[in-house]
Formats: sequence, C-alpha cells, structure tokens
Amino acid sequence: MKIWAHRGCSYAWPENTLQAFKAACQYPITGIELDIQLTKDGEMVVIHDEKVDRTTDGTGEVCDFTLEELRKLKIAIPTSEAKHGFTQIPTIEEVFELVKPYCLKEGVLINIELKNSKVRYEGMEDKILEAVSRWGLKDYIVYSSFNPESICLLKEKDPSVKTGILAAPVSECLSFAGNHPVDALHPNIKNMDVENLKDKTNLPVRAWNTSEFEPFYPDAREIEIQDLGELERAGVTDIFTNVPERYL
Ligand code: G3P
Ligand code: CA
Repeated sequence: MKIWAHRGCSYAWPENTLQAFKAACQYPITGIELDIQLTKDGEMVVIHDEKVDRTTDGTGEVCDFTLEELRKLKIAIPTSEAKHGFTQIPTIEEVFELVKPYCLKEGVLINIELKNSKVRYEGMEDKILEAVSRWGLKDYIVYSSFNPESICLLKEKDPSVKTGILAAPVSECLSFAGNHPVDALHPNIKNMDVENLKDKTNLPVRAWNTSEFEPFYPDAREIEIQDLGELERAGVTDIFTNVPERYL
C-alpha cells in the first residue's frame, strides 16, 4: 500500500502549509497531495477551500484577493518554526522549492489537485503545466481534479502528463476511465462501490480519506484509521491520509 500525505502531514500541522509538507517529506511517503487555486491577479496558491475563512484569520473568496493581500492572512502554527507562530498560504512555487530536493533524492511525488469545480479558474491548466516544466518536475507530478474537463484539457495539452480522476464513488472514476485517457482512479475511501475492482481496471486506485481528526479546526472529528488489508482486498493501491505517520 502506497501512502500519500493528504494536504501534507495535516494532522500534525495546519493543512496545505510549507510546515505540513516539510514534515511529510521526513517520512518514507510515496507523495504529498495539495490543492491549487488562483488569486485575483492569477497567481497559483495552495489552499483547499474556495473561502479563506476556515484556515486563516481572513474572510472571503480566494479569487477576490490579490496575492499580496492573501499573503497578509495568518495561519496559526503551533511551534516556534514560523516567526511569531504564524505562517502564510504558500504559492505553488514555494512548495516546489521546498519539495524538489525530496523529489530528486527520494522520488517523492506531488499530487496537484486543481480546485476548479465551484470556481472555474480559466487558464489554470496552462499555468500549472508551465510552472511544473520550468521547475523540471514533470516526472514527479500527478494532476487530479473533480472537474473532468480539466483532466481532459491537461491531457490534450500534454498527453504524457499523469492524471487521476477524482470522484466520490469508485464506479464514477471507473466509468470516466472507460472513455477518457486517465492514469489513475482517485475515489473516496468510503465509496468503494465496485465488486472485484482488480478485475475491472489495471490503473492505480488511490483512495482519499477526509474523515480524520483535524486538530486545528473547530469541526475536529475523531481519527479513523482504516484497515489497510481490507482496502487492499477492495482493490485500493494507495491511500491519501492526513496522518501518514500512523499509516506508515
Ligand atoms: O485528492 C484527494 C482529496 O484531496 C479530494 O478531496 O476535498 O480533500 O480535496 P479534498
Ligand atoms: Ca485535495
């Protein structure tokens, strides 16, 4: 079973921060997962929600902030690692700078999820392809999205990029893969609704879990560690988890 750090080590650190990604790279993980969106002035930033409210001290939509404005928002950090106990929403290029040595030395992969279902960020596909190529990281990137149009666009622009289709039920991922060029299925761990999945696809099945404890946020839930043997029998090859340290 391959283990990915979902939004970094996001149990131990605030999600999608440089601190969470740095922590993840200290473990023998397969890769990190992160979410990108565009600022008002078209810069790629790493944040999950369309609004900044849950994870920063600001309010409003990511797409209504310029990068300069967004960088003023604070994310509380529980140790002295960041100045004054705060960090910022990172740009994708800051993450590349941090993680690239681990990609080159340890083969760490980066799963970039294009968040573009609720807000359609025009041109985000071109921007991310250009940045990845400029950083020489193409071999280490897997693109994913809940927006099938985005997956198709990426493949159209460069058929050699690696992609994973995101959907809650694995049946939906499977049916998309039946008609489109895609390199992996990325279903919700709780929606493995296809029997004998291994007989139906040779693609990696990377299941994601969003129900793990998130200590930094008010809607904290109890941690649920999945039975990896059970998942493997269900056809899962990889897991995205907030607590890669425990799964490893
Ligand atoms: O890529 C897997 C997972 O991250 C998808 O869900 O909501 O955590 O972005 P979400
Ligand atoms: Ca994600």
